[in-house]
Amino acid sequence: MEEAPSYSPSDSPQAVPLPDSPAISNSSSPPAVDFLGPLDSDDDVDIEVDPALEDDFSDYESSGYDVSTASLSASIQEYVYENGRRYHRYFGADRNLMPTDEVEQDRLDVHHEAMTMILGGNLHKAPLDHPQRILDVGTGTGIWCVDMADTYPMAEVIGTDLSPIQPMWVPPNCKFEVDDAELDWTFNEDYFDFIHMRNLAQSVSNWSHLISSAFRCVKPGGYLELVELGQITYSDDDSMKDDNPIKIHFETTKKAMEKIGRPPQDTENMKRKLEEAGFIDVKVMRAKQPIGPWPKDKGLKRTGAMVLLACDTGFHAYGMAAFTRILGMSTEEADRVCREAVAACRNKNYHIYNYMHVAYGRKPENA
Ligand SMILES: C[S@@+](CC[C@H](N)C(=O)[O-])C[C@H]1O[C@@H](n2cnc3c(N)ncnc32)[C@H](O)[C@@H]1O
Repeated sequence: MEEAPSYSPSDSPQAVPLPDSPAISNSSSPPAVDFLGPLDSDDDVDIEVDPALEDDFSDYESSGYDVSTASLSASIQEYVYENGRRYHRYFGADRNLMPTDEVEQDRLDVHHEAMTMILGGNLHKAPLDHPQRILDVGTGTGIWCVDMADTYPMAEVIGTDLSPIQPMWVPPNCKFEVDDAELDWTFNEDYFDFIHMRNLAQSVSNWSHLISSAFRCVKPGGYLELVELGQITYSDDDSMKDDNPIKIHFETTKKAMEKIGRPPQDTENMKRKLEEAGFIDVKVMRAKQPIGPWPKDKGLKRTGAMVLLACDTGFHAYGMAAFTRILGMSTEEADRVCREAVAACRNKNYHIYNYMHVAYGRKPENA
């Protein structure tokens, strides 16, 4: 096993501070957000808890809810094995603090379904009109690219990632490249109709550079869309107390990421970053992601069930390297925080959610 790299705040000179961070919020109600062009007007409505869950037990199974899961070159394949997980290290073991093994690939695919459901079955919010070239940066398993290639069969869809974990059998109009998106891009200027980046906050050290690269490579009139999960948990009915293990996990992850200058993103600072890079007509939205199948609404319940499934391994994926390498926790302590969060997700008395933040902007036609 390799020795883990150590961090200090000076390791990350390009930190992008959050306006409302880095303090860990103790509030269980969302802060007021000034929506500038919200796409969903009802996204702040309280999620009603399924009354069928109201019995004396804490687990979903007691209410009859089934939470079972039944349901390149050699050097590029360089890995670090740590805490029983496989991390990719070709571009440096600290570039992506999350594992890329099969367990993580399954989680990414499940979570893709949940996030697609949150967007009402859509793969994007930017208003695309017969796009010809589409890029997904940090594509993970490439599942978004495959779905986009099916949705837009006339478009060429390219996915890039640090790790070669994408499938071989994909639609003919879809391909993948191994690349570090934080280095200078080799794509031609004014090339893509649409560039998409989802859940990269824990990896990105210099957003301005990344978004400027995208601005250069998107066509005039084309769009960049950012999608990020918020790192603050909420409950509308006070079912989440300050010592809730899910809340503790989210806060600990946020603390670690802020320490290395990779803070979580939200609609406000994503909008600002897009505008600073030159994008116009920036639109934002945020939608609640229920953690568990506790909502009464059928669609949200399905989404929450998918999220619950992803959480089975997600807390360890987000937490283990971050807690041990950045915060210096022992493996046992980090594992305990993750395991308690996994267990808490299965407690139907906790009606917790976080936000999925979306922002997109257009490159001016005369740029
Ligand atoms: C949390 S996963 C999200 C994957 C995918 N975007 C999704 O939403 O399903 C983050 C992915 O970004 C990739 N990544 C992180 N930093 C990157 C970089 N600098 N360049 C390219 N890919 C990167 C990681 O390898 C990982 O596959």
